[in-house]
Amino acid sequence: MNGCVIRGTAWHAPETSISNAELVASYNAYVARWNAINADRIAAGELQALLPSSEDFIKSASGIEHRRVLDKAGVLDPDRLRPHFPRRPKEQASVQAEFGLKAVEKLLDKTGYDPKDIDGLIFACSAPQRYFPAVGIEIQAAIGMGGWAYDMQMACASALFALQQAKGMIDSGAADAILIVDPEIMTGINDHRKRDVHFIFGDCASAMLVERADRGPGGWRVIGTRNETRFSNALRSDFGFLNPAERAGGEPYEPGLEQDGHRVFKDVIPFAAGVSRALIDTHGVTPAQVRRMWLHQANIRIIEMVAKRVLERERTEDNAPAILKTYGNTSSSSVVMTFDLNSADMAAGEKGVMCAFGAGYGCGAALVEKRA
Ligand code: COA
Repeated sequence: MNGCVIRGTAWHAPETSISNAELVASYNAYVARWNAINADRIAAGELQALLPSSEDFIKSASGIEHRRVLDKAGVLDPDRLRPHFPRRPKEQASVQAEFGLKAVEKLLDKTGYDPKDIDGLIFACSAPQRYFPAVGIEIQAAIGMGGWAYDMQMACASALFALQQAKGMIDSGAADAILIVDPEIMTGINDHRKRDVHFIFGDCASAMLVERADRGPGGWRVIGTRNETRFSNALRSDFGFLNPAERAGGEPYEPGLEQDGHRVFKDVIPFAAGVSRALIDTHGVTPAQVRRMWLHQANIRIIEMVAKRVLERERTEDNAPAILKTYGNTSSSSVVMTFDLNSADMAAGEKGVMCAFGAGYGCGAALVEKRA
């Protein structure tokens, strides 16, 4: 086995931020208009009035205070509540490839890597902008890489499912260096008309470069990975190419994101903690030997409870840092961002666990050790 090392990570979040106050004001304006338009049917008992959202609820239930977004005006427009990305001609970079490239360029800059020395690119995120050609191939072409690229999806666990694939290829000798890119435009997937989900997500792109351990010192040795899936409808998006075929007439159909937040909350805590514990047990590592967990930034209470179960001690900003207050849940990119922002202080030989979980359900975990 060649051994696999994380050479570097990088991320790019849009400059523009939306506060809870701004988000709630636009949501409540939408609710007031909807209730006014439907007043007669609500009075007749045919429809239920929509309830307003609240800043206090969002902060206490999720820990999120701001989220970075690519198009603030569209998301906050009560008549729209979604970003606006005007359709681009084929000759122009697609929105998601362009977004991913910003993280990739930072990573190439940081690591000094020549794209020609990278064998493959895995574009791993909750949803690609189109089915084909793969968005990853567009990024591959833009940076002048040879080799191959493909797109894969495993919702918020995508980056760590991709890491397991990359590690397998590197260990077996099928590739020497692989780039993983996770451009998450979650404001495009989320349904901002739903009170219980409108505040959760933000946009961010992350990138991670993994390579053979013998290419040089430094970086993070990937000791092991563990991926598990369990089917659940508690977090679901039915958006897809069969949507038009599902309708007899020409009526529009726009399936949004659906979530039973309470169910997700209850299910993912034991799932993520169990996968992480099984991973460290397999490699003979005790909770006390894990200096830090970099967790998917879904919800502050989930972070606290998963960290406590795995580490067998109270969560602190040192042993399981949280960045969701500022960025929201940025799906698969969040675990890479959390790692990137909170790993430079660790000493050679110290170990940590990355763990990401989400729709599917899918959970991916990686046990890593800082190298000298
Ligand atoms: N503003 C004000 N009140 C709201 C609200 C909002 N935006 N959304 C829901 N509420 C209300 C509910 O109607 C409910 O009222 P009731 O008690 O009168 O029925 C109350 O708040 C509690 O709702 P509940 O859904 O039980 O809240 P919760 O404590 O479970 O928190 C989530 C909701 C979504 C924050 C939480 O369940 C969660 O984070 N789940 C995991 C979601 C997640 O991480 N998804 C991504 C995984 S990758």
